Amino acid sequence: MSLSGNAIVAGIIGWPINHSRSPLIHGHWLQKYGIDGTYVPFAVHPDNAVDAIRSLPKIGIAGINVTVPHKVTAFNVVDVRDAASEAIGAVNTIVVQSDGSLHGSNTDAPGLLAHLQVSAPDWNPKAAPAVILGAGGSARAAVHALLEAGVPEIRIINRTKSKAENLASNFGEHIKVVNWSDRASSLAECGLLVNTTSLGMKGQQPLEMPLDDLPKTAVVYDIVYVPLETNLLATARARGNKVVDGLGMLLHQATPGFHAWFGVNPTVDEALRKVILDDLK
Ligand code: ATR
Repeated sequence: MSLSGNAIVAGIIGWPINHSRSPLIHGHWLQKYGIDGTYVPFAVHPDNAVDAIRSLPKIGIAGINVTVPHKVTAFNVVDVRDAASEAIGAVNTIVVQSDGSLHGSNTDAPGLLAHLQVSAPDWNPKAAPAVILGAGGSARAAVHALLEAGVPEIRIINRTKSKAENLASNFGEHIKVVNWSDRASSLAECGLLVNTTSLGMKGQQPLEMPLDDLPKTAVVYDIVYVPLETNLLATARARGNKVVDGLGMLLHQATPGFHAWFGVNPTVDEALRKVILDDLK
């Protein structure tokens, strides 16, 4: 669609940026809703990230998403931060305010929760502990989301235990750190298992996670979406667990930014999933 002189400009910064599916997601919605706007991938070297973010109001950009490796830089540069980004320590969405100030938020946590609630509506957050594999930025987003939802206990399991302990000290008493070697037995009585590690992703090592101790009623969520059905999800599905793939989180985390920049609250539907799935092939 052609742009007028009033076109709203948003985009995403990262280094590299060519792997990002965000332009496809936002491009799909811009077309669907007939909006006079565009969403541009910006390849921004780490040396230039601070200047690039500070320049947004100067060149009239409505806002940006922020991806690897700039999420912590963005956290430090913005003028105001939402509660999720404060808790997680990273900003993935910036909205330029009418006075030129930069509002930073983290939509990974609400995106994860929204996708989980849509995909597993019977999951009761308050009923049982959750287990999270990993202790990086995605694990922090998952912890924040699950605590907000009212999960009573979260067991954090990470290869590097000190990172899990550090995360636990940030998030408080509901977090328990479990040794990586004890991950299989940690599943007893839990209602949700979330993999936030890169294990099981195409090109990475497999995730070895025996599920024998996992209740059949538990939901298994893998934030990896290449492949869409990881070995973890295939194993869980085969034994009767409800499974949730990582693609929905990618789609749901994009909605708040689109709404703030372009003024339309977009829907995450099968047509959008298909656009991304076709691209992943
Ligand atoms: P993200 O921001 O997506 O969470 P990250 O911060 O790089 O990414 O975190 C990657 C996670 O995958 C970490 O928890 C990492 O464990 P370590 O803290 O021990 O590095 C985990 N991970 C990556 N490769 C792993 C492997 N081979 N075995 C176990 N865990 C692994």
